[in-house]
Amino acid sequence: MFAITGITGKVGGEVARNLLAGNQPVRAVVRDLRKGEPWAQLGCDLVRADINDAGALTSAFKGAESVFVLVPPNFDPSPDFHEARATATALKSAIEAARPGRVVYLSTIGAQATQSNLLTQHTIIEQVLGELSMPITFLRPGWFMENCSWDIASATNDGVISSFLQPIDKPVPMVATADVARVAAELLQETWNDRRVVELEGLHRVTPHEIATTFADLLGRPVRMEPVPRETWESLFKSQGMKNPIPRIKMLDGFNEGWIEFEGAEAGSRKGKVGLQAVLQTLIELR
Ligand SMILES: NC(=O)c1ccc[n+]([C@@H]2O[C@H](COP(=O)([O-])OP(=O)(O)OC[C@H]3O[C@@H](n4cnc5c(N)ncnc54)[C@H](OP(=O)(O)O)[C@@H]3O)[C@@H](O)[C@H]2O)c1
Repeated sequence: MFAITGITGKVGGEVARNLLAGNQPVRAVVRDLRKGEPWAQLGCDLVRADINDAGALTSAFKGAESVFVLVPPNFDPSPDFHEARATATALKSAIEAARPGRVVYLSTIGAQATQSNLLTQHTIIEQVLGELSMPITFLRPGWFMENCSWDIASATNDGVISSFLQPIDKPVPMVATADVARVAAELLQETWNDRRVVELEGLHRVTPHEIATTFADLLGRPVRMEPVPRETWESLFKSQGMKNPIPRIKMLDGFNEGWIEFEGAEAGSRKGKVGLQAVLQTLIELR
């Protein structure tokens, strides 16, 4: 049986669908049982657990052949990242107590970076879970193409998208969540020893400019990318309600300056199958 956290979200849901399509038994780990009901109807075992509740996670992971661990995104963490430290402690304690056969942890590109930034949350959790004695894979995908869902309204209505990724002709390692989930489902069914890292991106790197031209093709109207001046980010993010925008700003700097990169660079990453156009087409249809 495969225990899947984050199953009501993008990646976790698609991981579960991949496993169910292969007739594999799935335990849906949800924080709200009502949201898990559709999964129960598909034949999944249903367990309630918050990602910070070691006791509930222990029950959720017990008896699992493999566990898929996804921590919810936190764009506005405390300066000392204590939320990620607490999640790491809960997860480690639950995995140690439940002793599933294997663990696949959804991490990120740049989890090995030494400069503090938003992705440091994954660095912290990788370090703590890396101390576990069972086989663990850290799956490190690039920037999700589905982040473009934030741009649909401005592309459609104004023909202008604001870009924090700069310069807009710089290729960025991106990947479709369908590829992330497909690879995660494959990894969950593999056997391996110790700790390993799998880095994943799309077939080719994507520039912000290409996102605009792809939207333009799909929407049948001109769309351009407009870089947001770096000096305005802090006040802009604060005006949007962020208490601590520095980690997010540093993450964007990391992509733009190139120090958020795969450990094995572009040559060392696995490549997905799903392209930008297919992802944007689906996002437009779902809007
Ligand atoms: N976006 C990117 O470019 C990118 C790139 C690399 C890695 N990542 C990583 O990918 C992960 C996000 O994946 P995603 O996009 O699939 O997420 P998502 O669609 O936002 O889904 C988040 C999932 O986490 C669950 N969740 C939220 N709070 C929880 C809690 N306290 N306890 C237990 N579960 C909780 C949600 O359940 P509910 O339905 O109950 O809310 C939902 O199932 C993050 O770890 C992020 O850092 C993202």
